[in-house]
Amino acid sequence: MKPTFSFVICISFLASALAAGGCAMPGATPVYGAGLAIQYVDVQRLFHEKCTSCHTGAEAARGLRLDSWGALIAGSDHGEAVIPFDAARSLMVELTTKLVGGPHPTEVGGGTLSDTEVALLSEWIDEGAPSATGEIPFADAQHLLYAANQSVALVSVIDLETNQVIRTVDLQEYGLPQNASPHHIAVEPDGSHWYVSAIAANQILKFDRYNNLAERIDFVRPGLLALDPDGENLYAARSMAAVSPPQAIGVIRRSDMTLEEVGVFLPRPHALAVRPGTGTVYTASLAVNQIASFYPEDEAVELDELEGDRQHTLVGFAVSPNGRWMVGTTELTASVFVFDLDRELDMTPVDTIAVNAAPWYPVFTPDGRRVYVGNNRDNTVNVLDMETRTLAKVIEGNGLAQPHGAAVSPDGRFVYVSSRNLELGEDDGRSGHTYKPRYDLGDNTRAGTVVVIDTKSQEIVKVIEIEGYGSGLGAAAPRLRTAVPN
Ligand code: HEC
Repeated sequence: MKPTFSFVICISFLASALAAGGCAMPGATPVYGAGLAIQYVDVQRLFHEKCTSCHTGAEAARGLRLDSWGALIAGSDHGEAVIPFDAARSLMVELTTKLVGGPHPTEVGGGTLSDTEVALLSEWIDEGAPSATGEIPFADAQHLLYAANQSVALVSVIDLETNQVIRTVDLQEYGLPQNASPHHIAVEPDGSHWYVSAIAANQILKFDRYNNLAERIDFVRPGLLALDPDGENLYAARSMAAVSPPQAIGVIRRSDMTLEEVGVFLPRPHALAVRPGTGTVYTASLAVNQIASFYPEDEAVELDELEGDRQHTLVGFAVSPNGRWMVGTTELTASVFVFDLDRELDMTPVDTIAVNAAPWYPVFTPDGRRVYVGNNRDNTVNVLDMETRTLAKVIEGNGLAQPHGAAVSPDGRFVYVSSRNLELGEDDGRSGHTYKPRYDLGDNTRAGTVVVIDTKSQEIVKVIEIEGYGSGLGAAAPRLRTAVPN
């Protein structure tokens, strides 16, 4: 018999909720015309003088047309040329100032931009890259993916319609240190707010969909976040980087960000998921083979032993959209456990699927039929068929370099997997598999990535370059389509 016991302890205290409401972040609301220093007509004139000889029509270099605002915003065959409000991280500015062997377009025989011209372009982008009528690109993008850049205190915002980076949120602008280490992101089901854990800053921050900081709380070494789509809470577990964090998870009321810590009686709680419908929270230890289930209604915690002589080190949990099944990935035993959540109080896996090395964070497709997971030590993505409970496909390809986070588009068309692309020691066994960015900018060898996988062809169809150390991904969780709307 496995030891199963139920009891309740709550260590509760209110965190010093540092409300920072109204701290405006330029970003999303359209700004119409007035007050802008740069007019688009001047930017377009510059493009005509120095760029459109190569960047126009069907033959435009890299598919990037610079003959109209709309074409420029649509980007190249590979992605965005500008990120509104962030000139410094916009490819167009980086290429025309930093390209090794350049600056562009010098290396292809074009005329170098003067400092004044670079300043004009940069200022226009920093003002949001508005059109002649003041329209800001992607001001009302609906389906967003948030990607943490763990080594540079930055969050990249990706539009799921176009798969382009459309905003960046620099946590240093909110007083966080450069090593704040944003790790994971949870998004409200309606997209109205998102939450990010910053490991080394010991904070969880709440932003609205326009990237205005709404609130932040202190929390020791936060790691994974999960929210109850039907309830009022956000949950937080602890980072892998924490050696002996509190044996408790955070229960945070999302409306006012009040925090309660709930003891889970196991060391290093890491994996985290919420079961839709019931609101039960599952977490697992990195150090011992134990899973804790937390029932918010009566604040009861149940602890279960997971079988096995070896340490599994459960990394991530994901629950199927219908709430029936949960998968758990194990770093040290390269397995995906399948749990039947209808068997309450019994967390014995009903199946174990052997996968490639170090499966990291799993994600279900909206129909619940497949699970995708990046293999952190193998530079592959494993696709699991949840009907046959087998490893159906191993995806390889450019852009996978220590895969980490996973997310899915609301329609299930695309799966997104982030990669760290860290430089690793000779003895690590993974060195040499790192991703090489498309352009050498001198300082970008460690750019992280988000690969886009077409769930029909099971191929990587795009590599989105982000900044340093792509870690957690967050998108509004796919909801089960209910037959009867009420
Ligand atoms: C003489 C032709 C030429 C001119 C002029 C030129 N480009 Fe390019 N551009 C290219 C080529 C070729 C590439 C692909 C680069 C490569 O293969 O290294 C490119 C690539 C780019 C890219 C990267 C697209 C991507 O996603 O890969 C950007 C951004 C860009 N150009 C912006 C500009 C801007 C801004 C100007 C004007 C200041 C300009 N280019 C002028 C030929 C040109």
